[in-house]
Amino acid sequence: MYKVTLRARGKQFDYNSAPDQSPLDAARNEFIPFPVGCRRGGCGMCKVKVLNGDYEQDLVRSKEALSDEELENSFALGCCMTPKSDLDLISIEDYENSFQKADIESVETRVLYPKYALTQSIALRILETITNKAEELGIKVNAAVIDDGANLKAFIRMDEAPLLSGTIAQNKAYTSAAFGRPTHEWYSMIKDDPALLTGIVHTDRLVVFGGGFPLIFKGIIVGGIGVSGGTSDQDVQCALAGLKIFEETCQK
Ligand code: FES
Repeated sequence: MYKVTLRARGKQFDYNSAPDQSPLDAARNEFIPFPVGCRRGGCGMCKVKVLNGDYEQDLVRSKEALSDEELENSFALGCCMTPKSDLDLISIEDYENSFQKADIESVETRVLYPKYALTQSIALRILETITNKAEELGIKVNAAVIDDGANLKAFIRMDEAPLLSGTIAQNKAYTSAAFGRPTHEWYSMIKDDPALLTGIVHTDRLVVFGGGFPLIFKGIIVGGIGVSGGTSDQDVQCALAGLKIFEETCQK
């Protein structure tokens, strides 16, 4: 095992990564918020600057998101690299912010932090898309959008949607934003660990079945969405429709 130090979201995280494991996968297994997107190379959301250490990278996939100049200057994709020694990494967001902060401090004495916020119009568009998808599937759902502080941003209970699932929808959104991963990934992660399986499900507001997705913009979690009222698969389909409109809206 190699030691990895990751600076991301203004914090430092220390963890271990096996030689055949990407630092991104190792981090996410420990619930460390390594910025993540496609996990296949191409989106560039997991881009890091390697400050120290040796590594190997899948150049074919890395070249989809990194320029030759970046590759020469120790930039890498967290999902397409494996450690060959202890590593010291900084996310591209923190790397760029460190320069912005230096520029700002040189002219002002205040320290400013950029923050992405989920707007009302995006939240409402997500809900509208989710309910349209539910109509298409012939089901009635509750849908919730929460912000990065786990505050309820928007919520809808379609006519005749199950009352109880209103809370479940909000908890799915909360779980997704709090851990940065979809709720349907939870069960496969904990099913082979009896202590975790019987213990962690008692965590307040944790939901371990499908229908919740984090909302991630430029590698930063800005909120979460949760859908409940259909089968797990139907809830996932509705939530994915909401996620798609979020991603399309943010790219404009
Ligand atoms: S997560 Fe998309 S390139 Fe690594």
